[in-house]
Amino acid sequence: MSVQASRLGIILAGGTGSRLYPLTSMVNKQILPVYDKPLIYYSLSTLMLAGIRRVAIVSTPQWLPELRRCLGNGEHLGIEIHYVVQPSPDGIAQAILLCASLIDGPVALILGDNIFFRTGLGDMLRKAAEVEDGATIFALPVAKPERFGIVVLDDDGRPLRLVEKPKTFVGNHAVPGLYFYGADALELARTLRPSARGELEITDLNRIYLERGDLRLEMLGRGCAWLDCGTPEDLFEAGQLVRVLEERTGIKIACPEEVALNMGFIDDAQFAALVAGMPASSYADYLSVVAGERTRREVGVL
Ligand code: DAU
Repeated sequence: MSVQASRLGIILAGGTGSRLYPLTSMVNKQILPVYDKPLIYYSLSTLMLAGIRRVAIVSTPQWLPELRRCLGNGEHLGIEIHYVVQPSPDGIAQAILLCASLIDGPVALILGDNIFFRTGLGDMLRKAAEVEDGATIFALPVAKPERFGIVVLDDDGRPLRLVEKPKTFVGNHAVPGLYFYGADALELARTLRPSARGELEITDLNRIYLERGDLRLEMLGRGCAWLDCGTPEDLFEAGQLVRVLEERTGIKIACPEEVALNMGFIDDAQFAALVAGMPASSYADYLSVVAGERTRREVGVL
């Protein structure tokens, strides 16, 4: 499996989470549960599935210690996790500037409150991560385009324009919070100026790539679940979806330990030791089954 040693994966896990108050008065939004695991497990697993082994988590000074307690330095997952302070929520694109000292090649940026689920997600992400220049963004139809960054398409489905939270209808293809950039992202982010709402907008960075003819667009379309968990309703619905999918299939979504094993970031012995150290729980039971099935496959029983 191809592994992106030099690409830095950034998880933006700050903000105030004000729409989730009072849930977020004591806990960082990204630690809140989505059914059986913290929200940040989903974005971390997505980056790991793309083959990324160097991760920076960007959050507020208040919440970084809590995120560090949740994920540590990543060694147990065979990855490196760095923690970077964002003193105030000055925009999604600012995360790239804040991670300047860690960036020495291409970058992937994911919003810590975004959840992606579809079959073949890993292959699609690894394909996107293989391209080391320009930018790759994704799009899929949404019912409420005014809530998102929107990409306007031409008749051939190519990106024409990008509009952040359009007040009037321009199209219904939202750009989810997952972006792949070449090594020039840092230099380009330095040219951004705050928008009318005072933020360094990720849509403005994507627009630079679009205008240079350097923006690739992947349509996610039907069969892809993409959720952002900004409100109590979103969080509840995401939990319901994960529960239904996991209970019907018996397969859990977004367990970083399982992803680490499948990606070859850790070996069977490291995985077994990780699971042995977990308290009795359905999560640990599930991972034990994963380990058992791998062993049975290796000895030819499965
Ligand atoms: O969810 C996808 C959408 O995310 C995109 O379609 C939009 O183009 C993009 O601007 C963004 O819109 P949101 O309104 O959802 O962004 P929000 O301000 O809610 O920030 C998303 C997450 O990033 C949230 O968990 C808080 C965190 N964040 C945000 C900002 C602006 C930070 O950690 N720091 C920040 O400075």
